[in-house]
Amino acid sequence: MNYHKISLTVNGSQEDVIVPSNMTLMRMLRETLALTGTKNGCSAGECGACTVLMNGEPINSCMVLAVECDGATLLTVEGLAQDGHLAPIQAALIEAGGVQCGFCTPGVLISAVALLRRNPDPDEAEIREALVGNLCRCTGYERIIESVKVAAKKQAALAFTTA
Ligand code: FES
Ligand code: FES
Repeated sequence: MNYHKISLTVNGSQEDVIVPSNMTLMRMLRETLALTGTKNGCSAGECGACTVLMNGEPINSCMVLAVECDGATLLTVEGLAQDGHLAPIQAALIEAGGVQCGFCTPGVLISAVALLRRNPDPDEAEIREALVGNLCRCTGYERIIESVKVAAKKQAALAFTTA
């Protein structure tokens, strides 16, 4: 097995890690950096539980090798809250009843963040499309979609007050 030294930024922190060639980004986050908020649902790119942002884009971290992340900037669910304050999408999920289990919720949060960054005012179809890769058999997604709408309003209010 070959090992590689990689450097990357995770949730704003510079990290230098040594990873085996076959280690996925998901395993590196969970096992090497102890960032267990990124979940292992299927290990096959189908459930979205392992979604993180890589250079601003949502990816399934179970389908990416850690070694491919040399020089990358990552955001995981642990990086959403700042200074003890929940991110707008986290607060909105609580407020609108969109919190599901600990397996699917982190991926939903990250996908929603990616959507709201590129489209601060998405309509329902756009929200559904953004979350299509985040699977949960336990919900009809209605409250999750409502939560994303609430988050969009919260972010707009935040932008207004800090402008
Ligand atoms: S664990 Fe990666 S998509 Fe399911
Ligand atoms: S998979 Fe999390 S509540 Fe359904």
